[in-house]
Amino acid sequence: MHIVKVNLGLRSYPVLIGSNEVDRLTRQIDRAARTNRLFVFFDANLYALHGDLIKRHLRRSTRNIVEMVIPGGEKSKSATVLNQVYDHLLHEKISRDDFILACGGGVLSDLIGYAAATILRGVRWGVVPTTLLGMVDAAVGGKTGINHRLGKNLVGAFWQPAFVYCDTYFLHTLPSRQMVAGLGEVAKYAALDGGLILDRLRRFVDKNDLYDDRLLRSLIIPSVRYKAGIVAQDERESGRRILLNLGHTFAHAIENAAGYGRLLHGEAVILGLLAAVELSSLIAWRCIRPLASYRSLLEKLITWLPQVRLESRNVLNAMALDKKRSGLKQRFLILKAAGEPIIADNISIRLTRLAVDNMLEYYRVHGGTNAPYSGR
Ligand SMILES: NC(=O)c1ccc[n+]([C@@H]2O[C@H](COP(=O)([O-])OP(=O)(O)OC[C@H]3O[C@@H](n4cnc5c(N)ncnc54)[C@H](O)[C@@H]3O)[C@@H](O)[C@H]2O)c1
Repeated sequence: MHIVKVNLGLRSYPVLIGSNEVDRLTRQIDRAARTNRLFVFFDANLYALHGDLIKRHLRRSTRNIVEMVIPGGEKSKSATVLNQVYDHLLHEKISRDDFILACGGGVLSDLIGYAAATILRGVRWGVVPTTLLGMVDAAVGGKTGINHRLGKNLVGAFWQPAFVYCDTYFLHTLPSRQMVAGLGEVAKYAALDGGLILDRLRRFVDKNDLYDDRLLRSLIIPSVRYKAGIVAQDERESGRRILLNLGHTFAHAIENAAGYGRLLHGEAVILGLLAAVELSSLIAWRCIRPLASYRSLLEKLITWLPQVRLESRNVLNAMALDKKRSGLKQRFLILKAAGEPIIADNISIRLTRLAVDNMLEYYRVHGGTNAPYSGR
């Protein structure tokens, strides 16, 4: 079991990363919980596959488990479901000393983390992320929240968990499409880090096996370490944490232009990263060579994506709308080389359009040509 610490003074916490070591979870709960009662929330798909196993381990510490199962999927990150969670917790008379555990993907950790942040003005919580995206990104860093009809993640709070417990065992039942989406966020860290994560991701992609525990750990550990380092420096996204948005201005617009739900967020991130690489190369020709190897990695990942129809015009309109809403100028995070992100201001629409067109052209020709959807 590997442990990465998120250093935030009194709010520091460990992220545990292992394979098939679910018994360790019991020890974490023992350390973190102050009462004999545990409020556990499960993603419904996870519950059907692993609910009994998780509960069996939790019962080892003879806790009184109060459980609730939440339907899987983005729709659950809503005020309606949040209210159901509040009703459940209040009906069961939760106290400030109780502990809340969220088991599931990013949807569950965002929703339940926000419920934990707000119920009784804050109850301690822990996370068992069970998707790759949850392990490398959503469960780490304390950003919690729900969606609003005017946009994603518009209501939320920073509320750090007491621990995060990642076990690659759970990933064996995750559909391959979700695995590839998780690789999107790993590819983001690979671009920002430029060293170890990039090498490991390249090796992972070359191996062509999405479910190898050892290789998965070799990606999850440095990704979590990278994110934990950034969060420790800038918990509330007032500076360096903005780096974690690399490729995301494009990605949000791509998700929107595809029609919400047609591309997974992590899939759109892979396309967004290629657009960011294109833009970097258009702004500065000298970036082309240093980015060549990273670009070829993204291109391989794109062959694993499903084909979804995307119009350049719609992506650009969605980007313009997003910028207008957030009041941001045409400012992008680009790459001088892998490991050297920089902020570029006043990028012209012409260059942005070219970057999107080039990315879409690659995706149209190669997207889905090598999708690893082998029955999972
Ligand atoms: N808070 C943050 O910092 C942060 C960062 C990135 C993303 N997010 C949020 O994360 C969410 C996306 O998370 P996600 O990609 O994990 O999606 P998700 O939570 O919707 O999970 C994806 C699917 O996998 C299923 N599932 C979960 N675990 C499983 C398992 N072990 N086996 C089989 N199926 C399983 C779920 O039921 C769901 O259908 C988005 O809402 C996004 O906004 C948050």
